[in-house]
Amino acid sequence: NELNGFNGKLHFSRTNRHLPQAIIIGVRKCGTRALLEMLFLHPQIQKAAGEVHFFDRDENYEKGLEWYRKKMPYSLNGQITIEKSPSYFVTPEVPERIHAMNASVKLLLIVREPVTRAISDYTQLRTRAVTPSTASSSGMSTTMATVTTIEEESPQRPSQQQQSGRTFEELVLHPNGTINESYRPITISLYHNYMYRWLEVFSRDQILIVNGDQLIEDPVPQLKRIETFLHLEPRIGRHNFYFNHTKGFYCLRNDTADKCLRESKGRRHPRVSPLVVAKLRKFFNEHNQRFYELVGEDLGWPE
Ligand code: A3P
Repeated sequence: NELNGFNGKLHFSRTNRHLPQAIIIGVRKCGTRALLEMLFLHPQIQKAAGEVHFFDRDENYEKGLEWYRKKMPYSLNGQITIEKSPSYFVTPEVPERIHAMNASVKLLLIVREPVTRAISDYTQLRTRAVTPSTASSSGMSTTMATVTTIEEESPQRPSQQQQSGRTFEELVLHPNGTINESYRPITISLYHNYMYRWLEVFSRDQILIVNGDQLIEDPVPQLKRIETFLHLEPRIGRHNFYFNHTKGFYCLRNDTADKCLRESKGRRHPRVSPLVVAKLRKFFNEHNQRFYELVGEDLGWPE
């Protein structure tokens, strides 16, 4: 293989940029970054850097598929290119647009128990409200000085509702005690409201539901399911992970890399009143059942 210089990087002349054959479509705060980085441990996977936001942002979509393809990494024949943009899941136009690109694309949807996801979303919005630069700052955790941390995605737009100084409880409950369904972290956790659109466009077997809570607990079984789904050789295993007690999460390694996700992934969540958690779980129960029915799988989230 001949080596060519390109943009300061070397690439093999037999490689090219390909449109993604698989896309992580969401859900935000469910482990989309962890999932992409874990899949990238596989020698047959190439990943786009950052979040491309091609299908959900009109100004990008208008640039056309050639623009999108150029955002993809170089890959060899037989490798699968993957990108992740978590807002695809909740953007109405996206299923049709992805289908128009490739009707047989494979989609990965990672979900988490909806109340945990909402608290994670709140925690991220609160961090951004306090320190808006956090999302783009780099830097390694001092406790993990011997390993590299994984690059953050491009900062998302400041679409967040203003929530500075307000507690999670204040934001999720109306003064009369009912749930504020229009608070974005709650709205996004109502998965069935978005899922049905995807199933109108794609067949069920094109979409794999990844359990984000289990990906945190024990990533390997979820990754094995994905290898099967993507028709990849089984290559990811226990040897690729070690638990980092300081971080409280698994870190990743293979022959060429040893990485933990950066501090913005795996944040400490604020304490939320158990009564409010119970109330939210009850509220979500009916919605979760609708999601289970749509996807034909019971995720077993607590009631
Ligand atoms: P928290 O920061 O609330 O714990 P996303 O990449 O979609 O924004 O998801 C972020 C979430 O990924 C984190 O939410 C964290 O729980 C989860 N995650 C899963 N596996 C992880 C890992 N190995 N390291 C760090 N975070 C991980």
